[in-house]
Amino acid sequence: MTTEREDVLHSWCVQADWDAPTIVGGAGARLFDSAGRSYLDMSSLAECSNLGHQHPAVVRAIQAQAERLCFVTAAWGAEPRAALARALLERSGFAGGRVFFTLGGADANEHAVKFARQASGRPRGLVISRDRSYHGASYATMALSGDARTGHQVDPAAFGVVRVPPPYAYRCPFGSRDPQQCGELSAQHVGAVIDREGRERVAAVLMEANAGTNGIVAPPNFWPRLREETARRGVYLIADEVMSGFGRCGEWFAWQRHGEGGRPDLMTLAKGLTGAHLPLGAVVLSAAVAARLEREMLYTGLTYCGHPLACAAGLAAVQAYADEGLIERSRALGGTLLRELEALRLRHPVIGDVRGGDGLFAVIELVADRDSRAPLAPWPDTPAPLRELVARARQAGVSFATRGNLIIIAPPLVIAERELADAIALLDRLLGEARWS
Ligand SMILES: Cc1ncc(COP(=O)(O)O)c(C=O)c1O
Repeated sequence: MTTEREDVLHSWCVQADWDAPTIVGGAGARLFDSAGRSYLDMSSLAECSNLGHQHPAVVRAIQAQAERLCFVTAAWGAEPRAALARALLERSGFAGGRVFFTLGGADANEHAVKFARQASGRPRGLVISRDRSYHGASYATMALSGDARTGHQVDPAAFGVVRVPPPYAYRCPFGSRDPQQCGELSAQHVGAVIDREGRERVAAVLMEANAGTNGIVAPPNFWPRLREETARRGVYLIADEVMSGFGRCGEWFAWQRHGEGGRPDLMTLAKGLTGAHLPLGAVVLSAAVAARLEREMLYTGLTYCGHPLACAAGLAAVQAYADEGLIERSRALGGTLLRELEALRLRHPVIGDVRGGDGLFAVIELVADRDSRAPLAPWPDTPAPLRELVARARQAGVSFATRGNLIIIAPPLVIAERELADAIALLDRLLGEARWS
């Protein structure tokens, strides 16, 4: 008999309300619980199990590495660490760059900021990030995140963080109803904020390149325009690819959709890097940034930097994405998904907006009134009927993730087309049966 409900302090919930099945196994897009029930995972757990659950090649790679060598610190070399760094530099086209390994996404973002500050010669330089973003739950990344849930816990200014409005086309902070114009105004605004603060005081701009777990999907022109605005002012651009990487947005890394015009100076990775089989994050530095650090002391480190077991999992994961054509598959199925969700929007007045679909990541935004776009509940609250919908879906064997008024659809990239269609059909039915007012 498990005592997890009483003994574990669980994240992002009221402890007394935590109530979840115990998962004992998984395969493909499915999870199995201790009562023998199966759940179709429509969120890749925390948008991280991009390869599905228990991917056999990754499991085998972990087993093989465990037999050879479980651990050595970064003070010594490790074969899987070297091989994974090389694979990441090749996949991202960051020839001549370097990779710093962390344990997850938050510490990758913290280190990207450290490296950008050191390389720019502005050790306490400002970092510009945006509202409605999520970069982690450590103190510095709470300061970087524009997250309504945690904003009260931290003073961004104390961490040298300046926030700007997000490129949220459905509710454009710049008053536009045209996504392209919203993307343009949002990027221009970052340039204006750099000028206002003084470019010699700004070390970096850190943002999600396409989509984020706070439900924003930037209009396509935003990222390349942001790149122009930052490059023109000699300010480093850090792409947080923790969620958007490894096929989630239809590319290995979401910025690649824009080719060289989208290339950041640094990017951060985690989640899909091992398909969540083991914890691992990374900061990939361009050759120019790495060159600036080449002959300076680097005063940072983590005991488990580049843990061999995690790197072996990462290497096998990268191989699996390539061998199984999963990046292309995500792009193709993402298009199908968006079309299906558009059809749902036409049928259900409670759906105000659907966005995403560059890969297997899409957001459904629910509203109380479509014309006024009035939200169903004040952000970041989740409306009761939506909580009820999710509970009913789980009873029916499908697990959906929500955030506020949003349903986030991000299944493993290996999901069968039939499974995806069945999940959307269930959602269609439950949206129709819910009492929204
Ligand atoms: C875009 C983004 N950045 C950073 C993080 C933080 O990653 P971790 O939870 O591994 O610290 C997340 C996690 O959801 C994320 O979505």
